[in-house]
Amino acid sequence: MKITQAEFVISAVKPHQYPEDALPEIALAGRSNVGKSSLINKLILRKNLARTSSQPGKTQQLNYYRVNDQVYLVDFPGYGYAKVSKTQRVLFGEMIERYLQGREPLKLQLLIIDIRHEPSEQDQQMYKWLKHYEIPTCVVVTKADKIPKSKWDKHIKMVKKTLEVDPRDSVVLFSSELGIGREQLWDIINEAIAT
Ligand code: GTP
Ligand code: MG
Repeated sequence: MKITQAEFVISAVKPHQYPEDALPEIALAGRSNVGKSSLINKLILRKNLARTSSQPGKTQQLNYYRVNDQVYLVDFPGYGYAKVSKTQRVLFGEMIERYLQGREPLKLQLLIIDIRHEPSEQDQQMYKWLKHYEIPTCVVVTKADKIPKSKWDKHIKMVKKTLEVDPRDSVVLFSSELGIGREQLWDIINEAIAT
């Protein structure tokens, strides 16, 4: 995928702030610090357009990035960060649920999982939610560079099993560090926005 244009558009909190040009949207969800923003930067080949941080809980809105005037990548706030207040957590939950329930341009949800760890209760809940709303999902197993290649298969199987991944959903091995999975993920995104 050749990237000709990529820009940050808006940090949206309320639905009336979501873009209204009806471009297809690909959203990214996952635990705080799992590597969502890094994955966006890798996809669009920009070092730091999506703000990354070694400090978890930094992204607190839906951050919209427009790519090639063709698609929006929508970065969700990460879940599971202990220091976020309870009120804030409830607000996040409501914002995400409203988006998933009613966002017509959403074509594909990426659920980002750290290859090193078994998916958490919240990962499992998020995946169940997505399936409940019948949202096409791609599970992206990232930080592949953090474990030896010989263990990739075993860890991917573990992720699939714990999440009970629907056979219709694809699972992609990824590393923002090495660029593994980038082309495959673009193929999946392009297919999703073509339909
Ligand atoms: P929040 O916005 O807080 O939810 O975090 P996030 O999911 O956007 O994570 P972010 O992309 O900011 O990455 C968190 C940390 O993980 C950073 O220090 C990244 O450099 C690191 N990281 C992300 N992806 C990878 C990867 O594929 N490999 C390695 N080794 N490190 C990664
Ligand atoms: Mg982030």
